Amino acid sequence: MPALFDPYTLKDVILRNRIAVGPMCQYMAQDGVPNDWHSVHYTSLARGGAGLVTIEATAVSPEGRISPHCPGLWNDTQAEAFAPIAASIRKAGAIAGIQLAHAGRKASANVPWEGDDHIPASDPRSWQPIAPSAVAFGQNLPRVPQAMTLDDIARVKADFVRAAERARDAGFQSLMLHFAHGYLAQSFWSTHSNQRTDSYGGSAENRGRFLLETLEAVRAVWPENLPLSARFGVIEFDGKDEETLAESIDLVRKMKALGLDFIDVSIGFSTPEAKIPWGPAFMAPIAARVRKEAGIAATTSWYISEGRQADALVRNDVLDLVTLGRPLLANPHWPQEAARVLHAPNAAKVLPPSYGWWLARYQ
Ligand SMILES: Cc1cc2nc3c(=O)[nH]c(=O)nc-3n(C[C@H](O)[C@H](O)[C@H](O)COP(=O)(O)O)c2cc1C
Repeated sequence: MPALFDPYTLKDVILRNRIAVGPMCQYMAQDGVPNDWHSVHYTSLARGGAGLVTIEATAVSPEGRISPHCPGLWNDTQAEAFAPIAASIRKAGAIAGIQLAHAGRKASANVPWEGDDHIPASDPRSWQPIAPSAVAFGQNLPRVPQAMTLDDIARVKADFVRAAERARDAGFQSLMLHFAHGYLAQSFWSTHSNQRTDSYGGSAENRGRFLLETLEAVRAVWPENLPLSARFGVIEFDGKDEETLAESIDLVRKMKALGLDFIDVSIGFSTPEAKIPWGPAFMAPIAARVRKEAGIAATTSWYISEGRQADALVRNDVLDLVTLGRPLLANPHWPQEAARVLHAPNAAKVLPPSYGWWLARYQ
């Protein structure tokens, strides 16, 4: 069985190890344009030694941003600002990925440290969120979204395609579609948010239609030799988990048939009533089930924080890649520490020589 620090081949890209940086919003863009913050942040994560660095949820249209400070790829200025960041990640030895997203009914929110709640409609910084149905999430996100017309649906799919083309042209090597966390695509899938009576609502087949059509349209423009993934909330922890999971696995099989290369298994976050059993690597058994039953390469995140734990998930054939979020914010050099703990044969080379040469000698 492979180990955490063995390379991993996905289509034509080779990850130097099986550590992936999960997409993490920085809320630091202006008009959707990334800047020095993003350049330093993502380059540091790449220099820290991960195999894959996926840039945060990047909106396909202005109304698809979570907050006014989320990045976007709906215009060429944004794409031009992303290109050197992708190049810098690649230069540091990681595969450069980006997550394309539309926030749906969770859009138009304050950044977390300023409330994490909907910006009041009276505030000029706010905008009207859209969603499959006019149903609010609730709690801190009470704003009722506008139900999307069929024209809206067609337009957002086209926005995903244009953003994918821009990501491709900006030099990204891996594309992740955000089909999780209660944002637009997830809200088509979830019965908590989708009450449509047309061909995009009701049965699992109809609720999955927006996701499959978006994936198929993006696959047509995303290079065949580069990996396309989706982060998908396969479970809500709302008491209907077995049914949701079975339907989700079936949808993942269909995604695979349309050209999805790997799945990042996550949580639905479609209802504030969810009872989530937080705990170390608690999503790993669920991801393993999706991986096995859908027959697709898989990763997951959530409370995987120790090198030995991450290594065991790969060695025991649970996951193909291990995704980390907060542990890498706390320490972008986490991969180097894990390599030392695991006595990985290439531990001295996890960091660039300007750091790694010294650490290999004096630690
Ligand atoms: C600051 C922050 C921002 C995040 N932004 C995103 C995002 O843009 N897209 C996404 O799919 N998940 C996002 N997440 C979730 C992480 O990618 C990851 O799945 C989650 O933090 C669980 O992994 P961890 O326990 O290693 O932190 C975010 C998490 C954090 C902490």
